[in-house]
Amino acid sequence: MLSPISDKTFFLQVFGCQMNEHDSERIAGMLESLGAIQVPELEESEIVVFVTCCVREAADTRLMGQVASMKNVPLPQGSKLDKRIVCIGGCIGQRDGAKLMEKLPHVDVVFGTQNIDRLPRLIESVLVGKGHQAEVYEASEKFATDLPSKRVHTWAAWLPITSGCNNFCTYCIVPYVRGREKSRTIEDVAAEAQALVNDGVKEITLLGQNVNSYGRDLYGEPRFADVLRAVSATGVGRIRFATSHPKDLTDEVIALFGELPNLMPALHLPVQSGSDRVLKAMNRRYTAEHYLDLVRKVREANPDVALSTDIIVGFPGETEEDFQATANLVREVGYGQVFTFIYSKREGTPAAKMEDPTPREAIQRRFDELVDIVQEGAHEQNQRFTGRVLDVLVEGTSKRDEDVLAGRSPHNVTVHAPIPAGKTIDELEGTIVKVRIDESLTWYLSGEVVDAE
Ligand code: 5AD
Ligand code: SF4
Repeated sequence: MLSPISDKTFFLQVFGCQMNEHDSERIAGMLESLGAIQVPELEESEIVVFVTCCVREAADTRLMGQVASMKNVPLPQGSKLDKRIVCIGGCIGQRDGAKLMEKLPHVDVVFGTQNIDRLPRLIESVLVGKGHQAEVYEASEKFATDLPSKRVHTWAAWLPITSGCNNFCTYCIVPYVRGREKSRTIEDVAAEAQALVNDGVKEITLLGQNVNSYGRDLYGEPRFADVLRAVSATGVGRIRFATSHPKDLTDEVIALFGELPNLMPALHLPVQSGSDRVLKAMNRRYTAEHYLDLVRKVREANPDVALSTDIIVGFPGETEEDFQATANLVREVGYGQVFTFIYSKREGTPAAKMEDPTPREAIQRRFDELVDIVQEGAHEQNQRFTGRVLDVLVEGTSKRDEDVLAGRSPHNVTVHAPIPAGKTIDELEGTIVKVRIDESLTWYLSGEVVDAE
């Protein structure tokens, strides 16, 4: 029987991390396999799906605002529905469940992080008149590997290897909304990687809240290095991974940066703070010294590795001295990119109960100071690329200039170069071109294409 979803148009709006981006690809894949049509604008849609994030308060507030304000957007002309079907999934769906419908009565479907595979059934129930549907599972038994996926780019793919997190950093809500860590088998990961390569994918990003502890639940010990070797053996052009907890980064994985030719020289290693006192209060289970030691080892294995990190400013009780320890660590490491966040209180986490006497202005000043240090550091790091010829995977054109291509170097740095004469962006997208870097700026490098694939 034809699904009532068939021929309906849907719009997907994603907030948050790469795991959510990937879940959205699965959602789009599932809905399209039932005959629905993805549209680029809310106004054109009969079904809207929000994949949400609650890691910081700002994402929460934005979602509530967006869902509330879209209530009056009319359905597209010709639709046979009497109202647009509004679905909220992802981390806020998981956290709030049916309660969301009390705050936002025009929401029709609530689902969580553990049951995205159920979304089509829930929408179908609404379409056949069964009323609002809210369904959130505590935890799913198995990894949803067999759902269809509609990739945003044909040449790049996310490949989840674990889901959930067991670390319980005291500020973080993720373990409560993504559940305990579950790993896929190496065979399963390798098979999906091979299928992606056969499908023409050039870059695979392995995903997990902490890829370094991959396999502990399945094999009794972390086996992330084995996953990297297995994915490398498929011959895929580029391998990346995110994200990585310093306490679980092994020497074996570090060594692979010097051994696997397709493992890209880029490592995202969230440090969160440079103060041992704060790291302890965050339950991070490493010291600044241990972190710096890891950085040294990574650079020994491959001096070209570009490092990036996440930092939280204003964790409860952070003193000026603690902050200066963070600033010093950032200067010492030399990051290519730093994602800086002001601490955001999340109900239900241990840090939400901690005293916080620091005035808001002091935290903002620390944040601004850190941003300056980060910019200086990134600019300095990028100088090493000037004069080099880098392999750039073309992703499209620069936002500001249609005649300029934009792509990523192996180090995950954005590169701009004029589109060579006689070539179009459609021909170049998804291919690797060689670019000679003439100028290295803080956020991107620019140069000339010296050879197209
Ligand atoms: N407040 C601010 N930043 C947070 N992060 C996680 N939880 C919070 C919070 N409560 C940041 C961490 C993490 C990144 C994904 O988000 O730096 O690495
Ligand atoms: Fe959150 Fe810590 Fe788990 Fe990362 S490792 S998802 S910061 S609890």
